[in-house]
Order: sequence, then C-alpha cells, then structure tokens
Amino acid sequence: MSNTHLVSEFLSRLEQHATRVAVIGLGYVGLPLLEAFSKAGFAVTGIDVSADKIETLLKGESYIQDIPDASIARLIGLESTLFSTDFSTLREADALIICVPTPLRKSKEPDISYILSAAEEIVKVLRPGQMVILESTTYPGTTDEILLPMFSDTGLVVGQDFLLAFSPERIDPGNKDFQVDKIPKVVGGVTPACTQVAAALYQAVMGQVHIVSSARVAEASKILENTFRSVNIALVNEFTGICRVLGVDVWEVIEAAATKPFGFMKFLPGPGIGGHCIPLDPHYLIWKSRLHGYEPRFMALAEQINSSMPREVLQLVMNALNDQGLPLKGTRILLAGVAYKSDIDDMRESPALELIQLLWAKGASVDYLDPYIPTFELEGQTLKSISATAENLRQYACAVVVTHHRRGLDYQALCDNLPLLVDTRNALRSCQIQNTHVVWL
Ligand SMILES: NC(=O)c1ccc[n+]([C@@H]2O[C@H](COP(=O)([O-])OP(=O)(O)OC[C@H]3O[C@@H](n4cnc5c(N)ncnc54)[C@H](O)[C@@H]3O)[C@@H](O)[C@H]2O)c1
Repeated sequence: MSNTHLVSEFLSRLEQHATRVAVIGLGYVGLPLLEAFSKAGFAVTGIDVSADKIETLLKGESYIQDIPDASIARLIGLESTLFSTDFSTLREADALIICVPTPLRKSKEPDISYILSAAEEIVKVLRPGQMVILESTTYPGTTDEILLPMFSDTGLVVGQDFLLAFSPERIDPGNKDFQVDKIPKVVGGVTPACTQVAAALYQAVMGQVHIVSSARVAEASKILENTFRSVNIALVNEFTGICRVLGVDVWEVIEAAATKPFGFMKFLPGPGIGGHCIPLDPHYLIWKSRLHGYEPRFMALAEQINSSMPREVLQLVMNALNDQGLPLKGTRILLAGVAYKSDIDDMRESPALELIQLLWAKGASVDYLDPYIPTFELEGQTLKSISATAENLRQYACAVVVTHHRRGLDYQALCDNLPLLVDTRNALRSCQIQNTHVVWL
C-alpha cells in the first residue's frame, strides 16, 4: 500500500462513518471512549480480558459509574456493536485503541505488561489499512520503542501499510462538566500520515484536537499534566504542615489566595493522593529520566511529601485522642469516605487503604462509611460500609473524614454523634459544630 492510498482510504471510510473502532480494555477510560465513538455513529468493538465485564455488558448493565445502564442497553441494541474477549475479532476493526492499565511494580518501576499483552494480540491480527492508537498513560518512547518494533516485525510498514499513534486519555471520572467528548484530545503519530489520520478520527468525535509532532511529545504531555498536579498537591500539603505550626488555618489561606484572578491555581491538601493516575504516572517519567542519567528532583520530592500524608493523618488522630486521654490501641475509629476522591466509587491507591493499615498496626479497630463503596477487601479481610444510624455512629471515639462526598454522606450526623473528628478535606466547614471537637488537617 502506498502512503497516500492508505491515508485517503482511511479518511474516506471515516467520512462515510464506515470505520469500525475497537477499544481494547473497557475500564474507566475505555468504556466511555467506546460509548463516545458509538454515539458519533461508528460501529464499535469492545474487547476486554475480563469475561465478567463482557458478560455484564452483554446483559445491558454498566459497571462504570459515569455510564448508565441505559447507555449500555442502547449499545448492545445496535446490531453493529460487538463486545468480546476474543481478540481475533480485532481483524475486522479499522482503528484499534488500547486503553489497558499501566500500573507500577512493587519497585515503583513502570509495569507495561498489559500494553505488551494487548500488543501481542494485535500482532496476530494486524493487516494493511489498520490504525493502532495507544491511550494508556506511559513514559515517552513507549509507542516508538516498544509498539513500533513489535508491529513492524509482521513485515508491515508504518505509515505505508498501517498507522500508529499515541493520544493520551485525559478523562476525569465523576466530572459531569468534562466528559470524554468535551476534553480536547492531544494526538501525536509515529509518522505525519499517522498523525493526520489519528487526528481525523478523534476530530469526528471530540470537540477539539491538538496535534503534536510525535508520539513521544503526546506521551510526555500527559505525564506533565499529572506531574503538575502531583507537585502542586505536594506543595499545598507541605504548606498545610507549615500553617499548622504557625497556627494558621490553611483552608482560609487557600480561599483567600484563590480570589486572585490570575497567576494562582487552587490545589487542596488531603490525606494523600489516590487513583490510577497521579500516584503512578510521575514514576513512569522518573524511571525513564533516570535511564537517561537525569535525576528528577521536584517529582521525587513531591512523591515523598504526598506519600507521607497518611502518616501525618495518623499522627493527627493519635494526638487528638491523646488530648482526650485516649490511646489509639483498642479504640474504635470510623473512616468517613474511602474513595480516593469525591463522588466516585473508585478506591484504587486511595490513601484510606494505607491509613486503615496504619491504624490497624497501632491496634485500633476500624470501620468505614462510604455510600459509593459498599464493601472492599484489605489484607484478606472484607470490610463493609456501616449504616449511619445515630446509634451506630455513637460507637466510635473518633471519625476521620478521608473523602468529601457531596452526596450520600451526612457530615452533620458525624458532628452530632461523635465526640472527636479529624477532617482532612474541610468537609465539615459548613456543619453546625456544637458538642464535638474537630481537628482540621
Ligand atoms: N482512570 C482514570 O481516571 C484515567 C484517566 C486518564 C488516563 N488513564 C489511563 O488509562 C489507562 C486505563 O486506565 P483505567 O482507569 O481505564 O483502567 P481500568 O483498570 O479501569 O481498565 C482497564 C481495563 O483493561 C482490561 N485489560 C487488562 N489487560 C488487558 C488486555 N491485555 N487486553 C484487553 N483488556 C485488558 C481490564 O480488564 C480492565 O477492564 C491507564 O493507563 C491509566 O493510567 C486513566
């Protein structure tokens, strides 16, 4: 196939909406993306290694909070939609978008094994005319250095037989204002033809596409976004510690600073960072940077400060109990919220997990309350969200507010029924505080 033929063929199918888009990895990122392509009129294939997930989707049910069951019912009602665990079905797709996890190893080094395993399946079906796009967050160079050689080994030539690009996913689960099709898409291809076609594909669905000169730039841009958040959260976490020793209310300081209409961006302190992005992504860059002999300082320091936060909270709890003449050992503690951020059901990397382990290690008895997370497993134990009756709440010596859910968690009831509260999120600020003692982060 010639370069021009490949591009014109793909663009012409795209114009007629005859392109089949396959999404590999149907999680928080992949499922909303697949839905966006379907809503824009494309035939979609959803592939996941989890047979349970595919079965759930085929029943017309959703397992992602931002996608209602009705959307899945609409999807499977379309004759053209295909959900499967069978990777051979990818042969029929024109665009193959990889949205698999990119976790860290215990050593905090990147674990790109999910990308590799998806790519190995693609190698088996790759044919002339297809385009592969990686969306999983990863270190700069993954598309060029890892995927390109794997696909080129099939004998097909990039930019001539197939297309390859990176376009970072920037979704913010739970954010109703910015759903996937409202967030500008950064696109960088391995060749100019790859960039052109990948940009056209996203243009058909997303509001805005920003083209960059290479896949490497696109990969780096995503890590910059998340590192920016990590560093600024670390700054405000450190600032919080300084305010505490100075006897200044950090939340009031932040509100005041945020009235400046330029040159300041509001970040909030908290019990630690969570989710599948901010705690992990900077490590991808730290690792890659070290391979090239450049020692990152800011990012490593931010990581150090942010990961110390659960211990800071433990100390606050111990000090607060001590002031009341209570030991932590044998005392009943309630965590209010365990999700890693407001109004979502995701507790991956949530600081609540480490805090519970720290409290357990000190001999405390820990329960939790979270309307979004009815149950979870930790260290082989199954924990269940308690029912928030006044009688139940009165069993605890202290509650720690770990997540500020705007719906479903009655913070006033905590103030009314517990003697001591440690608020790491400023969630109790609007409550009537009468017979309880509140310690703010
Ligand atoms: N969650 C977010 O807010 C967010 C935002 C932006 C970017 N990202 C990035 O997007 C990527 C995916 O994140 P996520 O939150 O959707 O993860 P997730 O765990 O919710 O979903 C990943 C899905 O991939 C499936 N999977 C794993 N290996 C597979 C394979 N080899 N083939 C097919 N399916 C496979 C899993 O079963 C799962 O359903 C990550 O790189 C993440 O950093 C996540």
